[in-house]
Amino acid sequence: MEERERWGSRAGFIMASIGAAIGLGNVWRFPYICYANGGGAFLIPYFVALITAGIPLMILEFALGRKAQAGAPSAFARIVGKKTEWIGWLSLFAVMLIFLYYPTIMAWSVNYAVHSATLRWGTDTQNFFYNHFLQTSGGPGILGGIRWPILAGLAVVWIAIYLCLFKGIKAVGKVVMWTVTIPWAILVIMVVRGLTLPGAVDGLKFYLTPDFTALLKPNVWLAAYGQVFFTLSLAMGTLIVYSSYLPKKSDISNNAYIASLANCGTSFFAGFAVFSTLGYLAQSMGVGVPEVAKSGLGLAFVTYPTVIRLLPFCAPFFGILFFIMLLTLGIDSAFSQVEPFVAGFTDKWHFSKKWALPLICFFGFLVGVLFTTRGGFYWLDIVDYFTCTFGLCLVGFLECVAIGYIYKARKMREYVNEVSEFKIGKWWDVMIMIVTPAILGISFVWELIKLVQNGYGSYPRWTSFVGIGILVLIIILSFVLAKTKGREE
Ligand code: TRP
Repeated sequence: MEERERWGSRAGFIMASIGAAIGLGNVWRFPYICYANGGGAFLIPYFVALITAGIPLMILEFALGRKAQAGAPSAFARIVGKKTEWIGWLSLFAVMLIFLYYPTIMAWSVNYAVHSATLRWGTDTQNFFYNHFLQTSGGPGILGGIRWPILAGLAVVWIAIYLCLFKGIKAVGKVVMWTVTIPWAILVIMVVRGLTLPGAVDGLKFYLTPDFTALLKPNVWLAAYGQVFFTLSLAMGTLIVYSSYLPKKSDISNNAYIASLANCGTSFFAGFAVFSTLGYLAQSMGVGVPEVAKSGLGLAFVTYPTVIRLLPFCAPFFGILFFIMLLTLGIDSAFSQVEPFVAGFTDKWHFSKKWALPLICFFGFLVGVLFTTRGGFYWLDIVDYFTCTFGLCLVGFLECVAIGYIYKARKMREYVNEVSEFKIGKWWDVMIMIVTPAILGISFVWELIKLVQNGYGSYPRWTSFVGIGILVLIIILSFVLAKTKGREE
């Protein structure tokens, strides 16, 4: 077998993990999920999810990857047993669904970077986004033709992803040094401006006031766990493959703490920019914060442009900078979504990466065309919801069961502690074996029942069946792939 590539340094690995973690998930997805689930009501489940699932599962995935020295499917097959290989494939299909739509958000950002030059969105950013930019159709049943500017953006994004990846894993470590640090500086500017807007306080109240009744809602829990998985790039095979490039003797738990706290800190921080702006908008329109904007995945493209317009000087300049930042944040996440997918196939069949890579990028672009149509916005929403809320939570649940019960949590913990500065205690076993699977299991089943009864959001019922159908399909495909013989066997 050829020698695996290695990270240039420990910092390279941490930065790459943080780079994979920090992305549109922090700046675009976190605020919208938080807003849709009641602001402060969401934060408690979110932090609980971070502590009970985020950090423990990150440790688990690092350990699994390092021990197996392989991508997700082979890692499960080698370490836990051939019968669990399908969990690895399922995680790759989950990440595949994500890399099919994630670049679309980046394609919007490409367009918004261009619109920044003239602040084209004017004062009614919401109207501009939905009616002028997306020109959304009447519903998911009507695709209504392609929006060419978005398609052009998508092509640019995929070419960029390809170019970054084909340089190999060492180059990734170098690129992310920049894609992680510069965005933070820009985010600070946005937060400061947001906080100094009139009405900002109301937005912050909505963001930070906890609502304990929400703790009784399974959908908020599922959304919180889904967001934690998404934002930390967990349950998708990414971190397994990243840590498989780690040299044998390197720390696990410390890296996991640093990456997950840095990441969630960033989301929390970005929330200040978005919610203070919502407070401002609410005040100027004379409505409450919960009603001021359409909740949903357009939120970031309504609030950030508002702040940009209100910057006291050089607004177009900062606008361009902000959307370029979204792109740099997204690009390292996007290529680390493609990477584990490629690694999964090349590990099993020893395909040449030279061919796998351009093929997968092209496939990603082709499917992405769906999301650039006028009805594409709705599909993006539906796929995002099903993948993150159900898909990721399912994979997370299965990982806990496979390692906790089949492999045995204690054995894995001992392995982690052998190489880590920070020793993890028995609490880890409790999280992996009991707390996380229990919360995920209960809310998953509950939500699924409600979904079958009522459908998702205000979409027609049949869309839920398409969503569930896709999930069932990838589960079947995972089984099939796990059953087919690879080159090693
Ligand atoms: N965590 C990334 C973000 O917050 C998104 C993401 C999802 C991702 N899945 C991934 C990144 C897999 C890398 C690999 O934007």
